[in-house]
Amino acid sequence: MTRSPDQPGPLGAPGPHESAARHVTGLARYVDDLPEPRGLLHGYVVGSPHAHARIVRAEPGDALAAPGCAAVLFARDVPGENQVGAVVHDEPLLAEGEVHAEGQVIALVLADSWDAARRAASRLDLAFDPLPALLDLPEAIARGSFLTGPHVMARGDVEAALAAADLVLEGEVESGGQDHFYLETHATLAVPEEGGTLTLQSSTQHPSEVQAKVAEVLGIARHRVVVEVPRLGGGFGGKETQAATFACLAALGARRTGRPVKVWLNRDQDMVLTGRRHPFLTRYRAGFDRDGRLLGLDARVYADGGWASDLSRAICDRALFHLDNAYHVPTLRFEGRVVRTHHASNTAFRGFGGPQGMLVIETVIERAAARLGLDPLDVRHRNLYGDPPRDVTPYGQEVGRLPLGRMLEELAASSGYARRRSAIDDWNRGSVVSKRGIAFQPVKFGISFTATFLNQAGALVLVYADGSVQLNHGGTEMGQGLHTKMLAVCAHEIGVPVSAIRAMTTSTGKVPNTSATAASSGSDLNGQAVKEACAGIRERMRGVAAGLLGLDAEDAAALRFEDGRVHLPGRPGVEVPFARVASAAWLQQVSLAQAGFYRTPGLHYDAAAGRGHPFYYFACGCAVTEVEVSGLTGETRVLRADLLHDVGASLAPGIDLGQVEGAFVQGLGWLTTEELVWDRDGRLLTHSPSTYKIPAIGDVPRDFRVTLLPRSAQEGTIHGSKAVGEPPFMLAISVVSAIRHAVAAFGPAGVDVPLRIPCTPEAVLRAIESVRAAPHAVEADSAVLQPQAGARAG
Ligand code: MTE
Ligand code: HPA
Ligand code: MOS
Repeated sequence: MTRSPDQPGPLGAPGPHESAARHVTGLARYVDDLPEPRGLLHGYVVGSPHAHARIVRAEPGDALAAPGCAAVLFARDVPGENQVGAVVHDEPLLAEGEVHAEGQVIALVLADSWDAARRAASRLDLAFDPLPALLDLPEAIARGSFLTGPHVMARGDVEAALAAADLVLEGEVESGGQDHFYLETHATLAVPEEGGTLTLQSSTQHPSEVQAKVAEVLGIARHRVVVEVPRLGGGFGGKETQAATFACLAALGARRTGRPVKVWLNRDQDMVLTGRRHPFLTRYRAGFDRDGRLLGLDARVYADGGWASDLSRAICDRALFHLDNAYHVPTLRFEGRVVRTHHASNTAFRGFGGPQGMLVIETVIERAAARLGLDPLDVRHRNLYGDPPRDVTPYGQEVGRLPLGRMLEELAASSGYARRRSAIDDWNRGSVVSKRGIAFQPVKFGISFTATFLNQAGALVLVYADGSVQLNHGGTEMGQGLHTKMLAVCAHEIGVPVSAIRAMTTSTGKVPNTSATAASSGSDLNGQAVKEACAGIRERMRGVAAGLLGLDAEDAAALRFEDGRVHLPGRPGVEVPFARVASAAWLQQVSLAQAGFYRTPGLHYDAAAGRGHPFYYFACGCAVTEVEVSGLTGETRVLRADLLHDVGASLAPGIDLGQVEGAFVQGLGWLTTEELVWDRDGRLLTHSPSTYKIPAIGDVPRDFRVTLLPRSAQEGTIHGSKAVGEPPFMLAISVVSAIRHAVAAFGPAGVDVPLRIPCTPEAVLRAIESVRAAPHAVEADSAVLQPQAGARAG
């Protein structure tokens, strides 16, 4: 079978994304590119100008007199439930009485064009009585402003472990928010159809939830609403729940006016109105022995949820599930709580709390290594999960046989870590202005939705009588290559070339009750459902093919479906084209359509006990990263990054490499360049790319070496593959560790590097100033080195 270079590959073969050519030629259609139906109205979303205020008046004013304006909608216009909260019902679609964050939606203005709607919006009659706003995370904690009660995991006697430790560290780790900055902002087109039904084209990761919320807001049953997703121009978690708001607004507009309505946000609106990655604050105490073995960790974790719950509870849970990262923590007490502030409601973002949790233990390990005069790699190595009893997570799940030890050794060797580290230390002694740093970092990430019931997926495969195939599955394509992988699975399973299969627009009318495409599990879950659907059709076609070839049952069972033909191995000439079998099946009245379903087996978690088996398996990776830091400007450059990542037996290695690279660079952005700034009244100042700096091509490591771990097929997954979307994001924590190594070189040995996240040039410069000013002995305020080890590490 020959394949043109722009065709996606068969299972496990290198090849491009199934839409690559359309992405780069502009032929790929996103919601806002779809042909506009006759009579279309454009919706302008009006958000609160205040972080916290009482709404004194919300009236159309003379907006309706503005050119082209057709309608203005407020909370009172919602026929059903004015509610879009994904888990907790604490998020009105349109504000009533009070607003709790800048950008909280108050009104929708509908007009003939987006510009006309925006102009009309400036003529609304809105009046507010501003109220005090809680904007600072520590202050909100101190005031007891919480969205959830504590979630606790505990093991052993952590107080006794700390009391017996050679080194006790105490401190805080803070991490900041992050805007998703998908290239496509939120968009939905809602078209009213016959008999009170509605079809939506939405840029959502979660079409079934959009369907459910639209039905609730309109007060109709779900079967009247079809949600379709052509593709997303990136989601990164930002369209898991929050697309529902804009879809519901479009649906409401369509219902009230009887006309099609498109709701679209410009970049500034998208950045202000929608939530981001959760900022976290963690207060910890950690105990180590003199060899750097972690003995106990007590951590109180706070996530800034913003004004409404959204997915914050699950995100804070995932932070707790990843406080251990790749390390065995013998005694522990972890407590997580979501804090309520008057910021936009924060939401899912690649890693889903995992990065914020891991950053804590990585920071703790770095500090311990510095204080004990050890190479952080050795401390990390020493603490890796190992054989029983060092193989049980804080929540009681055995980690199984992780490849981390082997990966650490392979990557340390292939990257020349030890040699480069000592060369860097030499270089630093001779360099006054700039310093370099290098760091190793492992990642272990739990795969599965932690809300167990969400681990399910469906598919619907249709074979036509000419042998061509339509593939439907419940997942959404957001650039991550899910369709490319599902095409490969389908092609393999029914034995036709990828070019004979069409991946259909995701639709709630084809696969019902789906989960979000999230938690990196899109291909794991949908892949199994696709496989099941295909197998059903294949087995019916087997009988038809055996009839055409005149085979007995034994030979029929040996028939192979490959490359568009059905053949008997070892019997040349005993074969028939797939298309002929399909048309024969049709003539013989054999069904050529099949739904598939999958649920992940064996998962459970008891949040009250803090114990269970929430993850099907773990995805692992390692990084060795080298940076150079300027002592004059605080600017950082990643000189080289070597990543070794475990994707199991890859379904599509080109896609997986892209995911690893992209995730690392996105993580690097979170940790180094992306800084959110609000004014003192809680208004976001960094709401456009002129003030909010996502990483650009110049921030990509100069020397970037990404390898997929060979010989690593995972048991019990689709063709031995592993989830890849989120785990490599956290490999970027190695950048922070490398910066810390470089900054430390500006001061005396053993000094704590107080590095603020994100490591912007300003933050790095401040850290350099602080280590330069450090006395040659270690400060005793935040770290206690107990007497027996004092002489050694002091
Ligand atoms: N890659 C691209 N190009 N665009 C995206 O929006 N989202 C990430 C990741 N990779 C994303 C991406 C996130 S947050 C998740 S959970 C997974 O893709 C979701 O897709 P999957 O489950 O199919 O891997
Ligand atoms: N990960 C990502 N998204 C989710 C999860 C999760 O564990 N739970 C609910 N949505
Ligand atoms: Mo990803 S944060 O689970 O959409």
